[in-house]
Amino acid sequence: MTQSATKPLHIVVLAAGQGKRMRSALPKVLQPLSGRPLLEHVLDTARTLDPAAIHVVYGHGGEKVQAYFDAISDLTWVEQAEQKGTGHAVQMAIGGIPDDAQVLVMYGDCPLLTPQTLRDLLENVGACGVLSARVPDPAGYGRIVRGEDQQFAAIIEHRDCTPEQLAIDEINSGITVADGAAMRDWLGRIKDNNSQGEYYLTDIIALARADGVSVNAVLAADSDEILGINDRWQLAQMERLIQRRIARSLCDDGANLADPDRIDVRGKVSVGHDVAIDINCVFIGEVSLSDEVIIGPNCVIKDSWLGPGTRVHANSVLEGVITDGDCDVGPFARLRPGTMLGERTKVGNFVEIKKAEIGAGSKTNHLSYVGDAEIGENVNIGAGCITCNYDGANKHLTVIGDGAFIGSDCQLVAPVTVEQGATIGAGSTITKTAPADQLTLSRSKQVSVSGWQRPKKKPR
Ligand code: UD1
Ligand code: CA
Repeated sequence: MTQSATKPLHIVVLAAGQGKRMRSALPKVLQPLSGRPLLEHVLDTARTLDPAAIHVVYGHGGEKVQAYFDAISDLTWVEQAEQKGTGHAVQMAIGGIPDDAQVLVMYGDCPLLTPQTLRDLLENVGACGVLSARVPDPAGYGRIVRGEDQQFAAIIEHRDCTPEQLAIDEINSGITVADGAAMRDWLGRIKDNNSQGEYYLTDIIALARADGVSVNAVLAADSDEILGINDRWQLAQMERLIQRRIARSLCDDGANLADPDRIDVRGKVSVGHDVAIDINCVFIGEVSLSDEVIIGPNCVIKDSWLGPGTRVHANSVLEGVITDGDCDVGPFARLRPGTMLGERTKVGNFVEIKKAEIGAGSKTNHLSYVGDAEIGENVNIGAGCITCNYDGANKHLTVIGDGAFIGSDCQLVAPVTVEQGATIGAGSTITKTAPADQLTLSRSKQVSVSGWQRPKKKPR
């Protein structure tokens, strides 16, 4: 067991930066990456380390940040009213951290770090150090300066580098580790006498060395992990990186992706085995795709649970849907919240369903609206049928019993019931109960006028 394992881990997440370059009314750490705020990614990763506490240092737009995470009680909120540098930010939190703690400083705008990388860092860093990375373009970053023995010697901020140091491609990720008591002592001694007039967290490294504490820079295996966000272009590029990661893990879990570069997950998707997802699908919120679910191209699926063998065909939009499985949806179907589909159901093209339960084996194949309805089993709803659920003020229920057959182009004016086995003639407007096993229709009699002639244009 490592020494660190015996110390309570306190994580400080720096999230006070304004993020001016985002040009946004939204605080930077609330900007969405794969549909979730940057800070949420960081907190999720932090939690996997099982810390004794997570201290979030907030500043600009802090009310919005706190409001978003309001319900989450495992966070300690620390205000940094004025942003006077990374060292100053940690100073704000250090009062709430015990001497015997191991302190890990993370950035709220650095969401790609993995738990494994952080665990490696905590285990190998010793009493004090940082996570470093080799990057193709080190511009802007603090450089890791190593001595002749390759031992970590110092972090020099980009602005303060000599031309020689600027060529160093090992950079400081900013992720920093130190023991609680020592960190408190060093933070009390850092100064703001640098080019930016800020208190640099990185200055604790020199103080640690002066105190004879060995410092370490632990190299991250994948430099993408340490990427931070400063502007929207970086955010857009990071979106692609994280989507690749998500695509990879969906494949690992048993999904077949037609193209890993053409799927977007904005939230969380879980998949069973032999799931197939065609190109250009967007998943939003919490989506669960059970075994053998097939999703056709260009579908948008939000907050839905699709049972085993559900087939969603091209260009369908689903939100708040539950299926029992082995059913067909689309192409071009729109399923809105509260749609529940039984087994062997079929919902075809240009059909909209809202807040309706469709029983096993029932079909609504073309051009219909089914809203606020309870549809039994083995019901057939013909083309162009409408449940007239809204009277301008209130919504009303349509109930259709097992085995009913609704002819094409019918309006069911709710509240209304079609009893089991009933048949509704095409083109009917149904306002009263249609009794079981009978034919009900409301249709004006067809007449033919013999000798009638089409009007003709008068010759000029
Ligand atoms: C910092 C490091 C640099 C490293 C780089 C990695 C210092 C002095 N430099 O530089 O070595 O290569 O990160 O990205 O630490 N923040 C606050 N309060 C403040 C200032 C910053 O909460 O007063 C937060 C920011 O919101 C951000 C993080 O700290 O999440 C880093 O701040 P930033 O200003 O981006 O640091 P850099 O100058 O890039
Ligand atoms: Ca930065």
